Amino acid sequence: MSCIRQRSFVYSQFAGRVVFSAGAVRDVAAEVRRLGCRRVLVLSTPEQRGLAESVREQLAELAVGLHDGAQMHVPVGVVRDAQAVATQLGADGFITVGGGSTTGLGKMLTLESGLPLLVIPTTYAGSEVTPLYGTTQDKAKTTGKNPAVLPKTVIYDPELTLDLPLPVSLASGMNAIAHAAEGLYAADLNPVIRLMALEGISALARALPALRDAPRDIGLRADCLYGAWLCGMVLANVGMGLHHKACHVLGGSFALPHAEMHAVMLPHALAYNASAAAPALASLSVALGGSGKAGDAPGEVFALLDLLRLPTALSALGMPEDGLDRAARRMVERPYPNPRPLEQARLRTLLDDAFHGRPPRIDVGSLS
Ligand SMILES: NC(=O)c1ccc[n+]([C@@H]2O[C@H](COP(=O)([O-])OP(=O)(O)OC[C@H]3O[C@@H](n4cnc5c(N)ncnc54)[C@H](O)[C@@H]3O)[C@@H](O)[C@H]2O)c1
Repeated sequence: MSCIRQRSFVYSQFAGRVVFSAGAVRDVAAEVRRLGCRRVLVLSTPEQRGLAESVREQLAELAVGLHDGAQMHVPVGVVRDAQAVATQLGADGFITVGGGSTTGLGKMLTLESGLPLLVIPTTYAGSEVTPLYGTTQDKAKTTGKNPAVLPKTVIYDPELTLDLPLPVSLASGMNAIAHAAEGLYAADLNPVIRLMALEGISALARALPALRDAPRDIGLRADCLYGAWLCGMVLANVGMGLHHKACHVLGGSFALPHAEMHAVMLPHALAYNASAAAPALASLSVALGGSGKAGDAPGEVFALLDLLRLPTALSALGMPEDGLDRAARRMVERPYPNPRPLEQARLRTLLDDAFHGRPPRIDVGSLS
């Protein structure tokens, strides 16, 4: 097994309070008071309104309202509507209850108003700890990075994830693993984030297969949420490469489902980078409970998808085959930093493999 020992690095920390425990949501009122807020607006999607109602009840007079207009990809119109509601009610802070889509709305509201944000995540997307944000308008996605979008407090309560449907849970867990897996070969990786990446991957790789047989096991749900937090911290702190670029292109241009698309693409992106990032992939394999050989890591991720009975083909997610050329072209435009330079022709074959659900192929170099 190879080892990355970094003797020179930069580590800067985003300050934020994390409260993690089963039942933690019952302390939400104390956390809101701690932020100095007295009139918070609770935000959710229409589907998570029931869960958000229960949070609002915990808050009693500290909540001025509940807005359930959050939508996938944070449409600008939704941000405007929620802002208008917040202004009308005189809100002095925001609480989101939901997955990355709802967290994304809260981030935009806090960015534009300067009011504090408290996030209660109910998926494993990890957005709650990253300074990254995005909105969509007329099908075009605008993204940005600004620490001002970060919540002041995150409450992780695994009880709130018990009803997250199993296929969504498993795909969301793979989305989290993707953040940490790519972080392992980031040029700006540091030893603290590396530890978080390995611990996050190993927590999820152990818990997700077990969750398939026991989706309401609170211990497994806690392990998944813990792993998701750590993997989110990796996404927040180091640069992402080919895999995230590919998902940005596929999600933005073809509106593929976010977490499932990450799951399908990850083995292929890792295989592309295997020879250029062998020590990182060897450590990934160890964290997955695999052989510890770099060349085995992409196949081990692919096998995990199979074990979790997740889709392995972009075709199953609604990707049009005649969009693959365009996707390969876009992936090499303004590329993210990546251990191996991006070659459009090879990426086109990679996309073909991902489209048809073939196993990942490792094409260059000898790997141990
Ligand atoms: N900015 C970042 O750092 C970052 C990181 C990851 C994801 N994202 C963004 O987040 C979005 C994806 O987030 P997501 O994967 O969490 O999806 P999501 O928020 O859209 O939720 C996925 C599905 O799960 C349902 N759901 C959520 N919580 C539930 C619960 N507790 N019980 C039952 N159903 C529940 C939702 O209704 C939805 O149908 C994308 O827009 C992505 O770009 C941003």
